[in-house]
Amino acid sequence: MPRRQLAMVAVVATAVFGAVFLVWRGEGLAGAFLLVGLAAAILIQLDARKRLSDLAADLRRNRAELRTLAARTANQATELKELNLGVRRNTRVTRQAHDEVTAVADQVRAVGGQTRDVEALLTDEAERARKHRQSMRSRLRAMSRDSLTQNQALLQLHGQFAPNAPLPAVAGWAMEPTALVELVNLISRLRPQLVVECGSGTSTLWIAYALRRNGSGRVVALDHDAEYAAASNRVIAEHGLSDWAQVQHAPLAPTSTPRGDMPWYSADLTGLAGIELLIVDGPPQATGELARYPALPVLADRLAPGAHILFDDADRPGEVAALDTWREGHALDTVRDLAGRALLLRLRTD
Ligand SMILES: C[S@@+](CC[C@H](N)C(=O)[O-])C[C@H]1O[C@@H](n2cnc3c(N)ncnc32)[C@H](O)[C@@H]1O
Repeated sequence: MPRRQLAMVAVVATAVFGAVFLVWRGEGLAGAFLLVGLAAAILIQLDARKRLSDLAADLRRNRAELRTLAARTANQATELKELNLGVRRNTRVTRQAHDEVTAVADQVRAVGGQTRDVEALLTDEAERARKHRQSMRSRLRAMSRDSLTQNQALLQLHGQFAPNAPLPAVAGWAMEPTALVELVNLISRLRPQLVVECGSGTSTLWIAYALRRNGSGRVVALDHDAEYAAASNRVIAEHGLSDWAQVQHAPLAPTSTPRGDMPWYSADLTGLAGIELLIVDGPPQATGELARYPALPVLADRLAPGAHILFDDADRPGEVAALDTWREGHALDTVRDLAGRALLLRLRTD
């Protein structure tokens, strides 16, 4: 039994025995009541002390609970702080991630733009390549057609004449076979007695063949280059045509023209009067923009009335300019185009 209960039992027992004893000794009831009252006061005090002690215990418990609660709250505050820090960290990381994603999206957009640019470039290139292929094909076709046409013209030349010695090349600087066919036919038709050619070569040989077939006439070719002049004379001799053709070496020298002094053949023109056919195929273009212009003003007095002029390479800018300048000082008719490269002109007689 707890000490407090033992004390209360002892108090009650002492009070009861005391009261009984006082009554038994005839001390009167007052003493007994006093004793019982004292016992009751002690019991009340004991009870009060117990309540106080219970209250103190409650208080202690409550304080302990409060401390636990405070500790828990402090822990929760710390956790909250950490949580808050974590949230802030996450927000920062999320923002960084967002920025990175935005940057990547920008890059993807930029790459998309570049890809479109590259695609456009590739499309342009493919289109250019297609057009280039097409143009190459048509040029090849044109070259192949031209080659066939030139071969046909050569066959025509060889069908008309029977060259009995090696022939100089007809490629490069020489007049093309199509123009040569036109030239020999022109000589057959016009039957010129004097042909002057500016710029010697294969053409001089074929002109000589055409004159010999006519049975009359001669060609005098002027050449600024000593080697080519000698080579042309040698070939002419090898073909036995020296009675029909002579090449005169005439270096280029300043020559008086209506447009001032210009380089042209310093030729010996003695005996060259009444030229019926003048062939202008030199000097080479490299010697000057209007290299071939002087031919007409220099030889005009020596041309027969109604003389024909064959102007080769008439489609080149220098020759177009020369022809325009000729027309300013001379009455010229265009007879026709010869094989797309040369123009046949004629001095107007009226
Ligand atoms: C257009 S070429 C004259 C070609 C000539 N009328 C013919 O059809 O064969 C003009 C000048 O070029 C020079 N020449 C000729 N044949 C040449 C060649 N194969 N290479 C470089 N120059 C040449 C000569 O001096 C000639 O007077």
